[in-house]
Amino acid sequence: MNILVVDDERVQIESVKRGLKSKGHKVLEALSAEEALKYLNNGTKVDLILTDYSMPKMNGLELLKKIRKVHGSLPVIMMTAYAEKNLVIEALRNRCDSFMEKPFTVDQLIREIESARMRMIQNTDSDQLSELIPEFLHQINNPLMSILGSAELAMLALDSEEAVKKFINDIIEATKKIRMINKQLLTLGQTTDDKIEKVNMIGLLDECLNMFRGLLALKGVSVEKDFGGHELCLFGDKFALEQLFKNLILNAIDSMDGRHEKLLKVRAAANKNTSSVSIYIEDAGCGIPSESIDKIFTPYFTRKEGGTGLGLTIVKRIVEKHRGVIRVCSQVGKGTTLKVSFPGNCGS
Ligand SMILES: Nc1ncnc2c1ncn2[C@@H]1O[C@H](COP(=O)(O)OP(=O)(O)OP(=O)(O)O)[C@@H](O)[C@H]1O
Ligand SMILES: [Mg+2]
Repeated sequence: MNILVVDDERVQIESVKRGLKSKGHKVLEALSAEEALKYLNNGTKVDLILTDYSMPKMNGLELLKKIRKVHGSLPVIMMTAYAEKNLVIEALRNRCDSFMEKPFTVDQLIREIESARMRMIQNTDSDQLSELIPEFLHQINNPLMSILGSAELAMLALDSEEAVKKFINDIIEATKKIRMINKQLLTLGQTTDDKIEKVNMIGLLDECLNMFRGLLALKGVSVEKDFGGHELCLFGDKFALEQLFKNLILNAIDSMDGRHEKLLKVRAAANKNTSSVSIYIEDAGCGIPSESIDKIFTPYFTRKEGGTGLGLTIVKRIVEKHRGVIRVCSQVGKGTTLKVSFPGNCGS
């Protein structure tokens, strides 16, 4: 995470910084609240603020109030010499995420940061879900109209078994489409705090591939795995991570339909310097035309008959929920690689 540490005492910043850096976080420093606001105003990426309460000119509480006016959900942890009751109440009213009473250990700080991060993941989830609802209603309107139209036409064609069959078939197809959109959207809202756990990424990738064993065999896709022989673990929502990789694997399988060479490569690697974990899903499929690359994460964008176009929207949101990044590299006629990187390998 990019953590902005705000404290008027440089020694304090330095000691916190050492602890955070040792856990793979990136630290930005501000010696005053005013300096911290400058970072936020110039658009610097900040994932969490760790601020001292007692600072000259503007204290931590005043800083928190200013932050809340613009950044409603940015996690803020306040460091105090003593957590006085009135201060705590006022800070909580302004949605301060947590307090650290000085002196504290690096482990205590990391624990607080982790739980603030998880709370943020949950909030983002429900915010994003409600954002999708108007679009969702719009999208199910087409299949709904088609169901209504086909049902009315079937009523008019009751004497022709053939025609009725066709209309019923159209109704089934349209209903399936709504069911798929529903299913995809439901997976977005399923993160809860108690689902956050230590996830063994290699085990998870193996489970996903096993789930598709039948489909892979049926489609004639061979699989190559390269997991580097190290333990790769993340703190995250196992169910959501599973949805993420299932969507990527399914897209890869789809992309190789009708191709001569059908090879799916799944690679996982740890980067010791950044203490991050990267997973690559690589196919030898049709590739993505350059004019579509920018659109593939847009809700409901699909180039497949029967596709919802929500797969990659969900993938991107799950990646972001885990503070990760996703990159696409594709060549038409050659194949596509989706690279997903997450911070914080907690494997040994
Ligand atoms: N590995 C891939 N190779 C080629 N094209 C891809 C690949 N992954 C995604 N795409 C393109 O991006 C589009 C959007 O993908 P997304 O997963 O969001 O929806 P979908 O696969 O069309 O529908 P659904 O996920 O509901 O089946 C796809 O229709 C496809 O054109
Ligand atoms: Mg898909």
